[in-house]
Amino acid sequence: MTVFYTLMRGSSKGRDSMESPFKANVLEGKVALLTGGGSGIGFEISTQFGLHGASIAIMGRRKQVLDDAVQALRSQGIRAIGFEGDVRRREDAARVMESTVKHFGRLDILVNAAAGNFLVSAEDLSPNGFRTVMDIDSVGTFTMCHEALKYLKKGDRGKGPARGGLILNISATLHYTASWYQIHVSAAKAAVDSITRSLALEWGTDHDIRVNGIAPGPIEDTPGTRKLVPDEMPSKSREYMPLYKLGKKWDIAMAALYLASEAGNYVNGTTMIVDGGLWLSKPRHIEKEAVRELSRTVERRSRTSPVGVPPNSKL
Ligand code: COA
Repeated sequence: MTVFYTLMRGSSKGRDSMESPFKANVLEGKVALLTGGGSGIGFEISTQFGLHGASIAIMGRRKQVLDDAVQALRSQGIRAIGFEGDVRRREDAARVMESTVKHFGRLDILVNAAAGNFLVSAEDLSPNGFRTVMDIDSVGTFTMCHEALKYLKKGDRGKGPARGGLILNISATLHYTASWYQIHVSAAKAAVDSITRSLALEWGTDHDIRVNGIAPGPIEDTPGTRKLVPDEMPSKSREYMPLYKLGKKWDIAMAALYLASEAGNYVNGTTMIVDGGLWLSKPRHIEKEAVRELSRTVERRSRTSPVGVPPNSKL
C-alpha cells in the first residue's frame, strides 16, 4: 500500500451502487479458503465470492473477528465457516486446510490475504520486526500454498485451463519503487510476487493450477489503511490531489472475481495492480520523528480495538 501518497478520504464518485457486473453463479459449486478473510479486503472478497456462489472458509487468529465475519456472511445466505489459525504455523495451515475439505468436501480457491504491517523507519526496525512481517506475508503465503497443493490439484474440475484450482495472493505496489518506512513489507510483498510467478510456472504446468496476485492501492475502511494512514497522520501528508482517491474494497473483490471466474482462465502468473494508477506518482515523505510516535499509537490501538466486521453487520 502506498502510504505517503496524498490521499482523499471519502467515497469515490460514481460508484455508489456497487452492483456486481458478474453473474451470480460464476463461482457456483466452488469452495474458497481465505486467510485474513474476516476483515478488510479479505472479508470483502469472502463476501463477493460467497454472493457469487462459492462456499467460504476463513482463517484468522482472532476468534471474535472470525465469529462476527461468519455471522455476517451467513446473514447474507452465504455458506461460511471460520477456523482459527496463524499462517506462520505450518500445523495450523494443514489443520485448517483439512477442516475446510472435511466441511465442504473440496477446495478450489486459496486466497492469501493475511498480512502484517506497521509504519517504521528502517533505522528503528529490529531484525525481529522485519522477520515477523516476512513470516506472515511471504513464508505464510508459501506455507498455505504448499499445504493447499494436494487439494487444489485433485478433483474433477472439467476440461480447459482451469482444471486445477486457483491461488490468489494479495500483494502491494510498495516494492515497485521504494516506499518510506515500509522496508519490511516491501521486501515481503516482493517475495509474494515472486512466489506467485514461480508457482504459476511450476503448478500451472504440472497441475493446471493458476496462481495470480492483486496489488491493491490504499483502500478505504480497511485495517491496513487505518494503520498506514491513521487519522493522527499530519494533515499535510494527506492533502488532496485531484487524480487520487482511496479505492473501495469492492474494487479489489471484483478483480478477484475476474481472476477466479472463467473470464480469467488464461491469466496465470500475473499480479494485477488495482490502485487507480497511484503507484506511478512520487511517494510522499513525512518526518521520521512523526512516524515514531504515530506507529506505536496505531499499533497499540490495533491490538485493543476490534478491526473486523462489526457484529450483526451486512454488506
Ligand atoms: N514499530 C516497530 N517495531 C514494531 C512495531 C512498530 N509499530 N510493531 C511491532 N514491532 C516489532 C516488535 O518490536 C517485535 O520486534 P522485537 O522482538 O525486536 O522487539 C516484532 O515487531 C514482533 O512484534 P510482536 O508484537 O511480537 O508480533 P505479533 O506477532 O504479535 O504481531 C504484527 C505482528 C506486529 C505484524 C501486528 O501488527 C499484527 O498482528 N498485524 C496483523 C494485522 C495487520 O497488520 N493488518 C494490516 C494488514 S496491511
